[in-house]
Amino acid sequence: MEKIIDENKQGEALILKAKKGNERKLFIESYGCQMNFSDSEIVASILTKEGFNTTNLLEEADLVLVNTCSIRDKAEQTIRKRLEKYNAVKKINPSMKVGVLGCMAERLKSKFLDEEKIVDLVVGPDAYKDLPNLIKEVDEGRDAVNVILSKDETYGDISPVRLGGYGVTAFVSITRGCDNMCTFCVVPFTRGRERSRDPQSILKEVNELHEKGYKEVTLLGQNVDSYLWYGGGLKKDFKNASDIQKATSVNFAQLLSMVAEEQPKMRLRFSTSNPQDMTEDVLHAMAKYPNICNYIHLPVQSGSSRILDLMNRQHTREEYMQLIDRIWEIIPDCAISQDIITGFPTETEEDHQDTMSLMDYVKYSFGFMFVYSERPGTLAARKIEDDIPMEVKKRRLTEIVDLQQKHSAYRTKEFLGKTVEVLIEKESKKSDQHWSGRTQQNTVAVFPKEHYKPGDFVLVKINDCTSATLIGEAEGISENN
Ligand code: SAH
Ligand code: F3S
Repeated sequence: MEKIIDENKQGEALILKAKKGNERKLFIESYGCQMNFSDSEIVASILTKEGFNTTNLLEEADLVLVNTCSIRDKAEQTIRKRLEKYNAVKKINPSMKVGVLGCMAERLKSKFLDEEKIVDLVVGPDAYKDLPNLIKEVDEGRDAVNVILSKDETYGDISPVRLGGYGVTAFVSITRGCDNMCTFCVVPFTRGRERSRDPQSILKEVNELHEKGYKEVTLLGQNVDSYLWYGGGLKKDFKNASDIQKATSVNFAQLLSMVAEEQPKMRLRFSTSNPQDMTEDVLHAMAKYPNICNYIHLPVQSGSSRILDLMNRQHTREEYMQLIDRIWEIIPDCAISQDIITGFPTETEEDHQDTMSLMDYVKYSFGFMFVYSERPGTLAARKIEDDIPMEVKKRRLTEIVDLQQKHSAYRTKEFLGKTVEVLIEKESKKSDQHWSGRTQQNTVAVFPKEHYKPGDFVLVKINDCTSATLIGEAEGISENN
């Protein structure tokens, strides 16, 4: 889910309205995936009750929290650099305390306290409810660590405070953890076993967002298609499949339908889908409810069946292509985006060409592409030598990025001359005379402001485009408002 975080730039302090009487100042920033941003909203909610208000001035903070990402080595290096910066500020403000949250906290645990002297607090993704106790420890001069992973924590009972999204769009987490064990991925180790959140608490959160004027929610999970609620806890606690059936279970397609029906005027998105777990029921729900956006982020990682097998992706190139065909049979105008890794161990030129030809087949609307980064403790790190030289990984990355740009431009041009519904999110970065919003397909569209305002669904005639942005003119308000 490490993507499309345009509403809160990586590492920008997250700010919310000050609560009267709260005197301590919290500086909280997030790196990495959407789930981290969503988790920071939960953390801010917990700490507001503990007497903290947020600040965007590092220098005046009593407590600095950084929500970290371990997905690639580079992500961890970025955090280390941030810690150096905090260290410099601590010299001016010695009473400032520093806490590390998220995946790096979980991966490095108390080792963090030895490696980074500046850190006072280390808290893993399932331990945020313990923050009030941990902060007390730190106040009394002791280092504090809680990296216990849970089998049932979903934070379903905490109402996150909203730190981003301009009051128009919001994330709602529906699962935590991942059981898929892709061989390259650190997430199952840092975020633990997969758990699904009670559908009633999800509906309650969506309804609250609606009351506050939000117009779009994105249901979040590492692997949303495996969402399954049957009373809580891990799936393995049920002895067999029929036990799960017997319980009044809710799967992802059912959850999507419930949310879509509950708030028919709100747009609904979800991320991330895993090809092996996506069922046709989900596609039918998307086709049935007009408020479920016709857009699927469907990471493929590689177009070579041999590499997919080494990655433990549980599907072949052909099965992925069949799924793409079904998506377009059921939802003809569905946009699809990808994640791809180049230079996975043993990847040959032929495997790389397979990835490029698969891209040509799908012509993805967007993509998030990375060079393979070996992560300590993963199966790939333990079993397969990281044998592709960096210059080869990078050259292959450049080739797929260039190809994706061509495909993105092709997909963007498909909108020319059409009228599409755009949900206004904010002022365009390039012009204060224009609004910026997104189509159902998640393409950014800009158009002259006229009398419209953020949160309006507007019908926009597309006259022009760049490779990633649609440019148009409003034709009127959509009946969806
Ligand atoms: N299922 C998750 C995936 C999280 S990681 C989700 O919700 O999106 C996001 C992407 O990072 C993956 O799809 C993969 O393309 C990339 N990635 C993960 N581990 C990686 C690694 N070790 N090296 C390079 N890229 C990696
Ligand atoms: Fe990672 Fe694969 Fe899960 S990419 S988050 S192990 S679906």
